[in-house]
Amino acid sequence: MSTEEFANLPRHVAIIMDGNGRWAKKRFLPRYAGHPAGVESVRQAVQLCTDLGIEVLTLFAFSSENWRRPQQEVGLLMELFIKVLDQEAEKLHRRNVRLKIIGDRSAFSSKLQDYITRSEALTKNNTGLQLIIAANYGGRWDIVQATQKLAVQVQKGLLNPQDITSEHLNQMTSLADVPEPDLFIRTGGEQRISNFLLWQLAYTEFYFTDTLWPDFKRDAFKLALNSFASRQRRFGQTGEQVEKSK
Ligand code: FPP
Repeated sequence: MSTEEFANLPRHVAIIMDGNGRWAKKRFLPRYAGHPAGVESVRQAVQLCTDLGIEVLTLFAFSSENWRRPQQEVGLLMELFIKVLDQEAEKLHRRNVRLKIIGDRSAFSSKLQDYITRSEALTKNNTGLQLIIAANYGGRWDIVQATQKLAVQVQKGLLNPQDITSEHLNQMTSLADVPEPDLFIRTGGEQRISNFLLWQLAYTEFYFTDTLWPDFKRDAFKLALNSFASRQRRFGQTGEQVEKSK
């Protein structure tokens, strides 16, 4: 597929993959069955981004708040993460994908932490799509941990409080080394950020769809990309200024 199909592609797409539980319930399956079904949508999203040359794809797999779910669902989700890393890391590596997990991984089992470390190490020199999985991640957590790092620099006398800029703080966040998301997608009908990338979504275009995540396949993703392509991003300027600077 050629990139000509889209007038304007995002460099970084961030997605809240919502609606797995409802997808399963609609089929009279247990809630949990929606999560393995959602893995196929993850594969297709990765494939489309790779085909189009999108640089970064960030997926919200498990929020800091998801621990509040029924214990059985949390346990099965953790098993699914291990299984996905076990089965997919090698394939991602062959496709030149670099995998990175963001979030507080210290709460995960040592087995899952090992799989994360190994998958990241295996793919760390790859130069294609950067696939970032947010796991036990929260936007407020990210801002707080970034602030703590800055506070340490101040304490050590390396930085004056009055010299702190948003760029300093950005450098301490989990996504410091990638461009900010251009497009944010949330599936499953809800229209909120749910403590995802609070800091990084300042100028991001939002796209909400009722499609449930396991049904969000290649064509559904392309609709979101088409919507993005039709928008004019102004970053605080007027429409006329943006047109002139083209
Ligand atoms: C939200 O749907 C989805 C999750 C909390 C888990 C997402 C996990 C996957 C898609 C599988 C693994 C992915 C990777 C990248 C390893 P929900 O359960 O909140 O759905 P509902 O709103 O219908 O209840």
